Amino acid sequence: MARSTDELKRLAAERAALFLEGVRVLGLGTGSTAAHFVEVVGEMVQAGDLEDMVAIPTSVATEKQAHELGITITDLESHPQVDLTVDGADEVSHDLDLIKGLGGALTREKIVASASRELIIVADDSKMVTALGEKSPLPVEVMPFGWKTVALKLQNLGAEPDLRCKGGKPFKTDQGNYIFDCMFAAGITEPDAIGKLIDSIPGVVAQGMFLGMADRVIIASEGGARVLERS
Ligand code: A5P
Repeated sequence: MARSTDELKRLAAERAALFLEGVRVLGLGTGSTAAHFVEVVGEMVQAGDLEDMVAIPTSVATEKQAHELGITITDLESHPQVDLTVDGADEVSHDLDLIKGLGGALTREKIVASASRELIIVADDSKMVTALGEKSPLPVEVMPFGWKTVALKLQNLGAEPDLRCKGGKPFKTDQGNYIFDCMFAAGITEPDAIGKLIDSIPGVVAQGMFLGMADRVIIASEGGARVLERS
């Protein structure tokens, strides 16, 4: 019988746990795949492993899950450098560039990833794309102040910004900001250039392209989990 997507996510998470040896400060990602990894870490902690390890969650939701599992939590103030972060992604290109943020935690995820000596992404094979923006919109976190002005500037860059809503109201991130999910009719042809232009719009907090940041991507499929490494 074919494995469910959930089983594939767990498989990727279990494979990522093999990279935990020697890790003292661990970044914990956000989303359904990262949640499987947090669960695996929780099981190891409960079994008496990872005694000296502390973890930095990338969202309130992950912090709650980690806390409930007995994982020791810290923050970037106490540990500004992270040994390893394991997180999910919405899209993974063959160069291991990513789109992240459909879970709404892209800003904290980007900060923690940038603080990390190593970033491992866990995903099922549905996340692989030939070019970024093929399947997923690009999430852009913006301050509520002036959000319509930011929307116009995103449109000028070729994006179709869609304000993310929940229960009929704008969705708010853990920082109290809004998110635009941006489709690009012409595709994201030059990720680096467009990323920099979006980052330079006043009011933009972060955009969801993680370029050159992932060191390894663990992709789970029917055939098992394979590890892709940045060349
Ligand atoms: C959270 O903000 C995101 O970056 C997630 O890592 C991403 O959306 C992947 O989530 P899933 O593992 O739930 O697909």
